[in-house]
Amino acid sequence: MAALGGGVSAGRWRPGWGKLPIMIILFFADVVGKPGRDALIGKLPALRDRYSADAVVANGENATDGKGIRPAHAEALLSAGVDVITTGNHIWKQRDTYRYLDEQPRVIRPFNFLDSNPGRGVTVVDTRAGRLGVVNLSGHLYLYPARSPFEVVGQALEQLHGVRNVLVDLHAEATSEKVAMGWYLDGQVSAVVGTHTHVRTGDAHVLPGGTAYITDVGMCGPRDSVIGVKKELVLERFVTQLPVRFEVADGDVWLEGVVVELGEDGRALRIEPFEEPA
Ligand code: FE2
Repeated sequence: MAALGGGVSAGRWRPGWGKLPIMIILFFADVVGKPGRDALIGKLPALRDRYSADAVVANGENATDGKGIRPAHAEALLSAGVDVITTGNHIWKQRDTYRYLDEQPRVIRPFNFLDSNPGRGVTVVDTRAGRLGVVNLSGHLYLYPARSPFEVVGQALEQLHGVRNVLVDLHAEATSEKVAMGWYLDGQVSAVVGTHTHVRTGDAHVLPGGTAYITDVGMCGPRDSVIGVKKELVLERFVTQLPVRFEVADGDVWLEGVVVELGEDGRALRIEPFEEPA
C-alpha cells in the first residue's frame, strides 16, 4: 500500500485492494495563483502516470491571483492534462471569464448559482475509462449562493442521467454542510469532495453506500502563507482590523489532492489523499 501524504512520492501507485478499479480519478485541491498553476502544470504528467489516472479534475477557483480564473490560465491547465476545472465563490472576479464559461464546457461554476448566470454547473467528459460526470456546487453557509445545494443537486444529477461515474465538488466553508452532503448523496454519486478552505482534512473514506468522501482536499499552492496569501498581509489585517490588499504568496509550494478509484458500478473502491512538492 502506498503511504499517505509525502510517502506516495516513494513509488508507483498500486491500484486496487483486491478489486481492480475501472476508473481512477485525480482531484486537485484549489489551485492558488501562478505558483499553484506552475506546480500543477509541471507535475501533472508524472502524477497522471504514477497513479495511472484516467481523469483529472482540479478546482481553479483561485488560479488567477487568488481570485477566479482567467481564460488563458484555464486553457493552460486544460492543455496540461486537466479534464475538468471546477470553481466557486470567486468565479465572477475576472470579467473575461463570463463569456468563456458559456463557450468552454470543461470549466464549470457552481450549479446552485442563478440559472441566468454565465456557464453551467454540470459537465461530462469522455475518458479512456468511459464517461465522467462532474457537478460543481457552492455551500450555502457563509457563501450564500442563489439556492441551497441540497435543493438543487437532484436537478444536477438528472442532467447526468445515464452517466455512472459522477464526482461532486462542494465548494463550501462549513465542514458540517460538506459532511451532510456526503451523507445526502451517499450511494447516488461516486465521490463528494470538499474544497474552499485550503486546509486538508483527515477524513477521506468511502461511505457505506459507496461514495468516496473528504471534507476538504486542501490546496495546490504556497504553504509559506495563510491559506495561499502572503502571511504578513493577513497578519496585518487581523492585528489592525483595517483593509489590506492581499497578494498570493510563493514559498514552499505543494500540490494536494485525492486519488479516487471507482469500480464497475460507479461506486468508489478507495479514496486516498496525496501531496507532492512543486
Ligand atoms: Fe473559494
